[in-house]
Amino acid sequence: MLARVGLALVVFILWSCSSMWPNTSSWKMRWNGCGGVIHSGKELNAKSWNEIKPSSDLLWYPCYDEYDCAKLEVPLDWLDESDPRRATIAIIRYNATDRSDYKGPVFINPGGPGGSGIWFVKHLAPYYQSVVGRNHDIISFDPRGIGITTPTIDCWNSTLGSTSALLWDMQDPPNVDAHPGSVYDAYAHAAAFSHQCAANIGEAGKFVSTPSVARDMLAMVEKLGEDKLQYWGFSYGTFLGTTFATLFPDKVGRMVLDGNVDAIEFSAGAGTHFLVDTDAVMDAFYTYCHKAGPLLCAFYSESPQTIETRLDNLLADIKVHPVIVPASPSSNPRPEIISYSKVRRTIVSSFYRPFVVFPSLAEVLAALEKGDGRPFVDLTSPGGEEFPLCQKQYDPKDGDPEGPTPERPEAEGNSEATRAIMCTDARPAEGGVEEFSRYVDTLVRLSKSAGASMSSMWMVCAEWGIKAKWEFRGPYEGNTSHPILLVANTADNVTPYRSAARNSKGFPGSVVMVQDSYGHTSLAMPSKCTALNIRKYFQTGELPEPGTVCQPDYLLFERWNVTSWDDAKAEEELENIILDEALWKLMKAPIVGIGQR
Ligand SMILES: *[C@@H]1O[C@H](CO)[C@@H](O)[C@H](O)[C@H]1NC(C)=O
Ligand SMILES: *[C@@H]1O[C@H](CO)[C@@H](O)[C@H](O)[C@H]1NC(C)=O
Ligand SMILES: *[C@@H]1O[C@H](CO)[C@@H](O)[C@H](O)[C@H]1NC(C)=O
Ligand SMILES: *[C@@H]1O[C@H](CO)[C@@H](O)[C@H](O)[C@H]1NC(C)=O
Ligand SMILES: *[C@@H]1O[C@H](CO)[C@@H](O)[C@H](O)[C@H]1NC(C)=O
Repeated sequence: MLARVGLALVVFILWSCSSMWPNTSSWKMRWNGCGGVIHSGKELNAKSWNEIKPSSDLLWYPCYDEYDCAKLEVPLDWLDESDPRRATIAIIRYNATDRSDYKGPVFINPGGPGGSGIWFVKHLAPYYQSVVGRNHDIISFDPRGIGITTPTIDCWNSTLGSTSALLWDMQDPPNVDAHPGSVYDAYAHAAAFSHQCAANIGEAGKFVSTPSVARDMLAMVEKLGEDKLQYWGFSYGTFLGTTFATLFPDKVGRMVLDGNVDAIEFSAGAGTHFLVDTDAVMDAFYTYCHKAGPLLCAFYSESPQTIETRLDNLLADIKVHPVIVPASPSSNPRPEIISYSKVRRTIVSSFYRPFVVFPSLAEVLAALEKGDGRPFVDLTSPGGEEFPLCQKQYDPKDGDPEGPTPERPEAEGNSEATRAIMCTDARPAEGGVEEFSRYVDTLVRLSKSAGASMSSMWMVCAEWGIKAKWEFRGPYEGNTSHPILLVANTADNVTPYRSAARNSKGFPGSVVMVQDSYGHTSLAMPSKCTALNIRKYFQTGELPEPGTVCQPDYLLFERWNVTSWDDAKAEEELENIILDEALWKLMKAPIVGIGQR
């Protein structure tokens, strides 16, 4: 799930370009050899989504240049198909570019919940395809509540919605460990928003839970004329996959669950074990900053321990003396206050993509020590040249019917849908703020670096009040028609190895493959070893040996060397470069992970 500083529960983070990165223009090059396709980045030319007629058959319309789009009508209520109401699922397909040994579609779910499959496939399909093999189509969809799919989840249906949402976000309370009693304000803020949603989303809120989405996915598989699902799900997408495999075990053709949410814990709500490896990511900052040396890590000190102490001192100081950044016409039009909460949340956000963000984080921290908050503002505010954390939220009221592209604006996801899905998938918390406050204490004990910040993940469900029509809380198990491949990092900040191991227990024959990396999902750090194992699984069905551990291609703080296309002579080298580029692009894509702010 996801991060932006200073906003209330902003679930999606876009790691956009940053000057610390080598020139990325090469990815735009089209390479025509060997059937390989590198995305041209060209703008869309399709019919608007408005012109695509919902149908109970899968009717494809050309869209976005190289894609096909469809709207599939399904029962809103899968438990009572006599109910005439319909959900309309927006779907996107990127064709196999090598049809010589065509192997059917692979479904992608980018995570969230709340992530837009349309957005991710539209922007990244060729890169997913470079991993799974070019003889696969890449397909995804906006799950219920999100993007172009209806029903929509929108907690602000007044005409002043966008302004209200913005003003509301500005009331974001501090991190719950900022000052004594902060938790009470934060809880009230979350509860107030739950009431706002309950008043506005109406019936839609009952029909977006994950079992309905799994059933929609089965409908798509059937309408495609496929016998079984082939699937690569990230983060929350592992929960969707696990639910599908439980409900329809004989429909599993291939399933890769990457960055596992512990299904049992997630559906129970307010779990704690998702944080078991989080501090290992913080520790990696100390260790690898030290190892990298002062040239590559601006927060370097003579030992990992002294780096830790240095950071602790900085945070303690900022709690009392936030750093003030004066207004500047070129960036922030108003003065900015860099508080403890903002710095802490930025650190926690960096854990999702440490390889991408740690070097800039080190620079930001070193500047803050000197009382200079400008690099912090540059890093975290959207619109600047240097921010790897920017985000675009879907707002249904922003549509542009005159646009050359779909009438809906593009966004990686919808954080209001995130709540509607999570809070109806999970058992509701009933204990009120006192119980929640004890839960926060538990998280803080579990993770010094992130426990307090990550409590927001479940706080959003405070007093949610809406119940799903289709509730399903396990047991998550099944004899799948093909064994599942689970992927886990040695230290994932929200979906630890432990969760993959637990999910795997319910599915005989499944294998957990480990990537020796820090961060969230295998995409956190490029590893050709992982990618090639995933490709082999999709191509042949063969799983890696149990106990397989893949190394990442780089170390934290190491600079990424982009191989020039001109250097590639042999075809094999070209293949290597294509995979490199794909892993790079996937790593830098927005995170729709669990718990991001
Ligand atoms: C990046 O590549 C583009 C196109 O090749 C070039 O114009 C630009 O100068 C390069 N920038 C850097 C910083 O090398
Ligand atoms: C994708 O493949 C299908 C089936 O071969 C074809 O009908 C469709 O036109 C193709 N779409 C694009 C965008 O090439
Ligand atoms: C928002 O929409 C819901 C469902 O359509 C409706 O019940 C509610 O009254 C609306 N709220 C406002 C403020 O218009
Ligand atoms: C899977 O198959 C085994 C062996 O036949 C059986 O014991 C087990 O109950 C099955 N599990 C499920 C969830 O159906
Ligand atoms: C990247 O390039 C530098 C300079 O050419 C070289 O010293 C370093 O070893 C390279 N790193 C990797 C991972 O290839």
